Amino acid sequence: MTDAKTPDDTANAMWGGRFASGPDAIMTAINASIGYDRRLYTQDIRGSRAHAAMLAAQGIIDSKDAEAIREGLLTVLSEIEAGNFPFSEALEDIHMNVEARLKELIGEPAGRLHTGRSRNDQVATDFRLWVRDQCDAAIQGLRALIGSALGQAEAGADWVMPGFTHLQTAQPVTWGHHMMAYVEMFGRDLSRFQDARKRMNESPLGAAALAGTGYPIDREATARALDFDRPMANSLDAVSDRDFALEFLSAASICAVHLSRLAEELVIWSSAQFRFVSMSDKWSTGSSIMPQKRNPDAAELIRAKIGRILGANVALFTVMKGLPLAYSKDMQEDKEQVFDAADNLMLALAAMTGMLADLTANREKMEAAASAGFSTATDLADWLVREAGLPFRDAHHVTGSLVALAEEQGVDLPDLTLAQMQSVNPAITEDVFNVLGVHNSVASRQSYGGTAPDQVRAQIARWKGQL
Ligand code: ARG
Repeated sequence: MTDAKTPDDTANAMWGGRFASGPDAIMTAINASIGYDRRLYTQDIRGSRAHAAMLAAQGIIDSKDAEAIREGLLTVLSEIEAGNFPFSEALEDIHMNVEARLKELIGEPAGRLHTGRSRNDQVATDFRLWVRDQCDAAIQGLRALIGSALGQAEAGADWVMPGFTHLQTAQPVTWGHHMMAYVEMFGRDLSRFQDARKRMNESPLGAAALAGTGYPIDREATARALDFDRPMANSLDAVSDRDFALEFLSAASICAVHLSRLAEELVIWSSAQFRFVSMSDKWSTGSSIMPQKRNPDAAELIRAKIGRILGANVALFTVMKGLPLAYSKDMQEDKEQVFDAADNLMLALAAMTGMLADLTANREKMEAAASAGFSTATDLADWLVREAGLPFRDAHHVTGSLVALAEEQGVDLPDLTLAQMQSVNPAITEDVFNVLGVHNSVASRQSYGGTAPDQVRAQIARWKGQL
């Protein structure tokens, strides 16, 4: 970093030709992105290698120079990987840091690398490659997470637990069914990353500054070399949109919401009041003052990650919303947010995968809770419709009276005597007790997608086949 304002030798080596003096120290600080965009070094070097090879194949630079560039870039790569690359803030960003070092290493041919290219298409290419890798990482992370949830679902396909609405006991469901609800959510998250990846997989390289170039470049060749499906069809669009990053962040935000909801349930379920689950030691922490405590910190942190991930999403939307075409420096602010969101999403996915795999569901506790709170009241109403021929609205009313009676007696529905039931509605017979148990209740919910263990097992099998 320099705070000097002396002419000539402080001017930027890459673009300083028309400048008499170097930048103010604060200008250097606000302008530089090397502090974070150094994370794009692999992508930057890969893009430059593809570009140089194409320039040589097209006869735009000679093959000796291209070979020197190739070798020099490999040296730069190994220097960065070994941790002895001299990063410089004065050189602003990863692109100019790499090129300046290349010049030190190979001299004049380095100056030919930037032919028919601009940092605008260069950074768009690098960033797309990076985000594409993150889509792959998220897809892989979600596959593992779905595996953990499937493991839980399979073990407890017929374990009964209370299903809630308004966090009030509603109807009995199975543990497997509850886990499979998250499998569906994470499956959609996975497909969102797949969709986004497919859409972003076009190459901006060769769009140059904004208008394309007069050199006879071959954009198909560089697109192929970088595993893109095709070159982007409009050079202005190629250098100026960041919708691929917004799609990644949007998919990440939705996924983080799902993670957060599951995390919240784990926090509730692991509390002393619920005890539906216990977390393994590997995923809990103790309290420095209360020896009895076992805190679900990992779940709480996963629950919180949505804050920064959605924050990144909002930040990038806000940066992009008013920008005229094509490139504006505002867009340098696209990267840190995405880096942070991606890092934290991958961490949250991995933590949830491990936590869920090591989680013990307490079958007895869940089943006891499922029986409380009149959870089979709907089954009773359905029985009155089916066996006593009542219209559903009347059956609902009769059941309400029975619930009130049980509440008054301080018992659950199956504990009412037949005589007590008949005092409310004489059509009720002994047979009603067959539907008041929670196991009968879940087994009867055979509609497609319902909680009956057969249905749950069918969904587990479908997912296992799909993975
Ligand atoms: N560091 C810049 C960024 O991240 C690279 C592109 C610079 N382009 C320019 N015309 N100044 O956006």
